[in-house]
Amino acid sequence: MLTDNHGRTINYLRLAVTDRCNLRCFYCMPEDGLNWLSRKELMSYEEMLRGCGLLVKMGIEKIRITGGEPFVRKDIMQLLTSLSQLDGLKELSLTTNGVLTAPFVPELKRIGVRSVNLSLDTLDANRFFTITRRDEFAQVMSALEALLKHNIEVKINAVVMDGKNTQDIIPLVEMTKNMPVSVRFIEEMPFNGDGHIYTGLQWDYVRILDEIKSRYPQLQKMQDSAYSTAYNYQIPGHQGNIGVIAAYSRTFCGTCNRIRITPQGELKTCLYDDGVLNIRDMMRNGSGDEELRLALLDAFGRRTADGWEAEHSRVVHPGIHESMATIGG
Ligand code: GTP
Ligand code: 5AD
Ligand code: SF4
Repeated sequence: MLTDNHGRTINYLRLAVTDRCNLRCFYCMPEDGLNWLSRKELMSYEEMLRGCGLLVKMGIEKIRITGGEPFVRKDIMQLLTSLSQLDGLKELSLTTNGVLTAPFVPELKRIGVRSVNLSLDTLDANRFFTITRRDEFAQVMSALEALLKHNIEVKINAVVMDGKNTQDIIPLVEMTKNMPVSVRFIEEMPFNGDGHIYTGLQWDYVRILDEIKSRYPQLQKMQDSAYSTAYNYQIPGHQGNIGVIAAYSRTFCGTCNRIRITPQGELKTCLYDDGVLNIRDMMRNGSGDEELRLALLDAFGRRTADGWEAEHSRVVHPGIHESMATIGG
């Protein structure tokens, strides 16, 4: 088993395959997009596969593909298919905005993807446009339909934003009545890509839960899995369930089992670090697998105990210039 210097298991890799996205969710990136990485800066699929192969041998059991939006990267199914064949990998999943996803669903099913996290902040087409600055609501809903039809487990990620979509909380909860989906409400984090001063969290997980309980007092707590980012709940009689992710107000650091690789090959052992090792550069400079393995082990041995604490103990929270799309969520 792979562990870090604080005795925490590391078994989950979040691999961001691109920083590009076909939506412009205002909590993630500015309207003009980001200063996109060039083709050369991106890790190639060969490099990703080599890095992942090595990490799986070292103890990574689950890989989540993120972005940006994974499906805007050309031939992404090629990478997914190769990853799905890695010996020792127990779970391959992805987080997508759903815009381009529907046609790929049968193929995802075929290669063994069992679960997909779908970003969807509202059930209203106009609000969807206000939040994402793009008119793609219908495409996202057809992705949801296709995923359910193919029996792929779906978690819906909804970022809760004051004045933008709080009227969607109850309708989103209601989706769980007849659909076997997990709807997860996420506290908004200050990773909006434009460095705007963060004015503070208006809807923390307690307020979100209160809103749900005011309509559904029978809400029941479920048992959460060991590394769950969400507190999970169920409404008796509903097919699906509900999660609340206290991404900002609570720390997950104590049980953090995840590492990240950015599209340019930067290894992050904490959401809040700036990258501790560049595996793309090492590969391009001719490092062999053993050299890479030792460098990775060294990085895992220097993992920060509590990145959240360090971030939150700062008196002023300047806006974080980094976008969620460059980190991979
Ligand atoms: P599962 O594998 O289904 O548990 O997914 P996940 O929750 O790890 O991933 P997903 O990509 O669906 O992310 C859901 C939300 O959790 C996003 O808003 C992420 O940014 C947030 N999140 C993921 N990892 C971390 C983390 O290490 N710390 C914090 N604070 N938030 C995180
Ligand atoms: N705060 C919270 N969640 C965010 N995401 C993107 N930006 C933010 C933010 N500023 C979410 C997306 C996606 C997941 C990977 O991260 O909605 O579902
Ligand atoms: Fe794209 Fe996801 Fe960022 Fe929205 S949150 S702009 S869908 S990367």
